[in-house]
Amino acid sequence: MAIALRTSLANKVLQALRGVSNIDTLPIESQLVSALQINPYSAKTRIELQLPLYTVVGQRKNHVEKNFMLRQGSEIIEKFETNDSVTGISLSPPESKIPFLNFHLDISCYCRNLLSDILGTREEDYVSRKLFSLPREQIVIEYSSPNIAKPFHVGHLRSTIHGNFLSNLFLALGQNVKRLNYLGDWGTQFGLLQFGLDQGWFSWEEISKNPIRSLLEIYVKANTMAEKDESVAARARGLFQRLESGDEELSKNWKEIREFTVTELRQTYARLGVKFDEFNWESQYGIKELGDVLSILEKSGRLITKAEGTKVVRLNDQRTVTLVKSDGSSLYLTRDVAAAIDRWNRFPFRRMFYVVDNAQSDHFVALKSLLSFMDHTWASNIEHVKFGRIKGMSTRKGTIVFLSDLLDEAHTRMKAKQIASPNTRVVVEENPEITDILAISAVVINDLKQRRQRDYTFNWDDALQDKGDTGIRLQYTHSRLHSLEKLCGVHLPDELLSLNTRLIKEPELINVMRDLGMFHQVLQDSYNQLEPCVLVRYLFDLSHSLGVALKTMPVKNQEEELAQVRLAIFSASKRILSIGLKILGVQPLQQM
Ligand code: ARG
Repeated sequence: MAIALRTSLANKVLQALRGVSNIDTLPIESQLVSALQINPYSAKTRIELQLPLYTVVGQRKNHVEKNFMLRQGSEIIEKFETNDSVTGISLSPPESKIPFLNFHLDISCYCRNLLSDILGTREEDYVSRKLFSLPREQIVIEYSSPNIAKPFHVGHLRSTIHGNFLSNLFLALGQNVKRLNYLGDWGTQFGLLQFGLDQGWFSWEEISKNPIRSLLEIYVKANTMAEKDESVAARARGLFQRLESGDEELSKNWKEIREFTVTELRQTYARLGVKFDEFNWESQYGIKELGDVLSILEKSGRLITKAEGTKVVRLNDQRTVTLVKSDGSSLYLTRDVAAAIDRWNRFPFRRMFYVVDNAQSDHFVALKSLLSFMDHTWASNIEHVKFGRIKGMSTRKGTIVFLSDLLDEAHTRMKAKQIASPNTRVVVEENPEITDILAISAVVINDLKQRRQRDYTFNWDDALQDKGDTGIRLQYTHSRLHSLEKLCGVHLPDELLSLNTRLIKEPELINVMRDLGMFHQVLQDSYNQLEPCVLVRYLFDLSHSLGVALKTMPVKNQEEELAQVRLAIFSASKRILSIGLKILGVQPLQQM
């Protein structure tokens, strides 16, 4: 529930509590506003705010005897004086673990305030201005981070989707966000690629037309050869060494490969609606960039040079990591250390997130330990946002190698569903962009509805259903609300507080209003847990409540005041749905 509304209701509750002699309202005043964030709870036709009794009796949770609390509670109830916003009070059943006081809110007052709050604020300001008041902090979020000339696998897809969500959420909360894509453009695969180029397997022209596909083909072919034939492997290593030592011709090829790949990647990101502030490259960060860091570690005795020339650091009794190879070159971990320091210098962050799959947990533990060994206290601002694996995500051609194949397949399947569905309103053939947005909504929501760390199995039919809990369903609800607004012929009054909310009586509408009041708590939970599924499931619930209300509570051909108040509820719902979808990285559709 929005802050202003919460504060005003809190004041009303306090007012009423002041009439109760054995309560000293002063100590609970500050707790009350935040405690009122507890979800407005609806007993069908009522909206309540629940407050744990211990906050009212002014003691700590574990130190109050329950019977004492219940006695206090009954006394409060007896003496409580209602007012125009808080019309009653009750105690939760005695068997409940934590006793709650339930304040019954006057529905029309609650609705009037909430509706004018949602509809009277610009959509893009609603979250940061009305819901949250976080201090503006620097946040760095790294996500997607695929490797050049290697498959963009489903792990990268999840990273992209989840990182995009986190960025949108923190941006909506008014944070100062830097979105980074850290591309793997360094490593022995470039030796293999150069070997393949030398064999003339592909012309530059072919590569420029279809970079990701042809480079992967070269890589796979060269890799297979190198596995069988050591002389090929040695030549590839040699080529990479030449690149590392700055060979001009090889550097030129490598840069070109990068450019081609990135151009193609950018198209896919645009299709997904995913944005970045910067593309960073692994190759930017070598031993050189670590500067004196290595010698500091060496002096402190942490960095040990082994007989064969590798430099290692002992993290703990069980684990040693290598930072410098025997030929003096860097490793993935070394480059991450240098990159983290560079990021800190450029954007001193309060939090930095690495959105990378579970499998790299050890890597990020090592990264944080190394940084703290170097006395970078900000190492504790780093968080590895991990996620589980997706199983069974494949297209008709087989397991997914190219993200564009996945999106194309989603598009084709979606189109067939649209053509078959009685709910389709647009001419499918003429609106491929709508099909594409629907297809992407299905894939994105299907992923974000899962608990982040859990592995899950992908299934096309589940993801693309128009009933049940899918992105299609959410889009359907949104576009229905949109056409209702356009076609009902009713207009909202300029003064939103003049809406006659006394007319809201039916549980169908009260349920929707209760859901709308929960948006704040949901975003807060989603933010605290860095879990999109909390928001997704909320939107599913809202969409279910709306499904019932849209069917039973017409706006058209009703008496004006009634039509207006119903329209206000549907318009406010459309806003919340739209804000929620955009945070999840889905573009809300107006028709489908
Ligand atoms: N490119 C890496 C991979 O595909 C992921 C990079 C994750 N980010 C990082 N800073 N290490 O496995």
